[in-house]
Amino acid sequence: MQRIVDVAVSTPDRIGGTGEGPHGGLLLAGVFEEEPPAADAFPAAIADVLRSLGERPGWKGREGQWVEGDTGREDLPRVALRGMGKRDQLHVRKLAKWLGDVANLAALHGVARLVLALPEHALTRGPGAVARIARQLALSRYRFDEFQEKSGEEEETLAAVLLLMPDASAAAGELAAGLEVARATVTTRDLANTPPNVATPEWMAERAEAIAAAHGLEVEVLNQEDLERLGMGGLIAVGQGSRNPPRLVRLVWRGAASPKVALVGKGVTFDTGGISIKPAADMDEMKWDKCGACTVLGLAQAVARLKLPLELSIYTPLAENMPGGASYRPGDIIKMHNGKTVEVLNTDAEGRIILGDAMAWAAEQRPDHLLEYSTLTGACVVALGQTGAGVYTPSDELAQALLGAAEDAGERLWRMPLWPEFKESLKGRHGDIRNVAGRWGGANTAAAFLSHFVGDVASWAHMDIAGPAYIGGEGEGLRGATGYGIALTIEWLRALVGGATRS
Ligand code: BES
Ligand code: MN
Ligand code: ZN
Repeated sequence: MQRIVDVAVSTPDRIGGTGEGPHGGLLLAGVFEEEPPAADAFPAAIADVLRSLGERPGWKGREGQWVEGDTGREDLPRVALRGMGKRDQLHVRKLAKWLGDVANLAALHGVARLVLALPEHALTRGPGAVARIARQLALSRYRFDEFQEKSGEEEETLAAVLLLMPDASAAAGELAAGLEVARATVTTRDLANTPPNVATPEWMAERAEAIAAAHGLEVEVLNQEDLERLGMGGLIAVGQGSRNPPRLVRLVWRGAASPKVALVGKGVTFDTGGISIKPAADMDEMKWDKCGACTVLGLAQAVARLKLPLELSIYTPLAENMPGGASYRPGDIIKMHNGKTVEVLNTDAEGRIILGDAMAWAAEQRPDHLLEYSTLTGACVVALGQTGAGVYTPSDELAQALLGAAEDAGERLWRMPLWPEFKESLKGRHGDIRNVAGRWGGANTAAAFLSHFVGDVASWAHMDIAGPAYIGGEGEGLRGATGYGIALTIEWLRALVGGATRS
């Protein structure tokens, strides 16, 4: 089935007859509870239908409510209102769910082309709104069914949405960004959802090469021998228990000589915990321990396709953490790429070890900013839940920029502490540092561990995406990898190079 819903933007006055051509579909207007539908900007005939629908007995604009009427016009035969609940209770995730519900309803009712009008609100007209809404609509029909038997009958699907905005012409750049983020998100979700028997480090490296070839990026894949030559003792140690050997991938986009940005993503293709093995329950979810790597691969694609004027390097350390006769052990002392030795006390704290090597390598290139994404700790999920990620950075400026970008993108992000006590708690007994500290503040000590590997880069950040990177279990709605982090990063990068809504 089609992966992406095609989204375009226009103004309400151009609907039907006046140049946009026939839509042959449904006009759906979102309406807040106890408010009339916003009809003024529409051609008179359509405005009349909107107003009369708003006066239907029983219609309140409550969440989930829906009324429909006919216009008697061939170009836009059906008009509907959909309730959005109380104006002051709308928040970004509620709006995202509303958009998803509308897309599913449209598909269910056989609407291939939907024209969508949203009421004026900070979340529908504010910074990043067009990019965010376009992306969410574009992704509304995403499924990962590559490994399932096709039913034969084509599922009803929504092919296109025309989003009505008062300032549609000004939104072209935002729309393009939103759609590229959606495409990148599909790439990321597909990679991340691929099962661990297929998505080995080598397979991931091949996918990275394919992305580089398709979008004009430089690519470098380090194999076992290269890793040894470069002294990447951490990545080698974590990968040595698996029959699928580790890899380190770097992709480079040269859109301008500066700014230089490095993005690193954790690529544990499966995390059993190694010798410090995990309990059996939900261990299958550890196929998503490569989500950080998949996120930065998607980001490389989006940045190249948007031709952003910067130098972007992405790094993915790839390894499978398995128990076995060749595995690294608790007690091992390993030497990292930057020369520091790590005393392994728990082989399940493997992400920080492979990231240490990759971040140290990235930092050597002296990027202006170094960002890292990882499903690093369960502790971060305990702290923040599955809704958003924690961000750790010593730079107040970078923190503000990332939090602002996340807000505009509609991704929840929360700043977490890098207090010196956490770094002190990682002092090693026989190595320079240990890979785990005490029981408490596990997300914070993991971040403190990473701070040993950023070299001279002052503007660095670690994002623990263990909560929002995927949705496990059964149930309604999207399951599996989400692609969290792509939207906020593209917002941040566009602001960095001067092309975004918030500067
Ligand atoms: N990949 C896990 C973290 C994780 C847990 C991600 C749950 C998503 C959901 C990571 O490698 C890990 O095992 N972390 C340990 C660290 C501990 C051994 C200090 C954890 O969080 O329990
Ligand atoms: Mn682990
Ligand atoms: Zn892990």
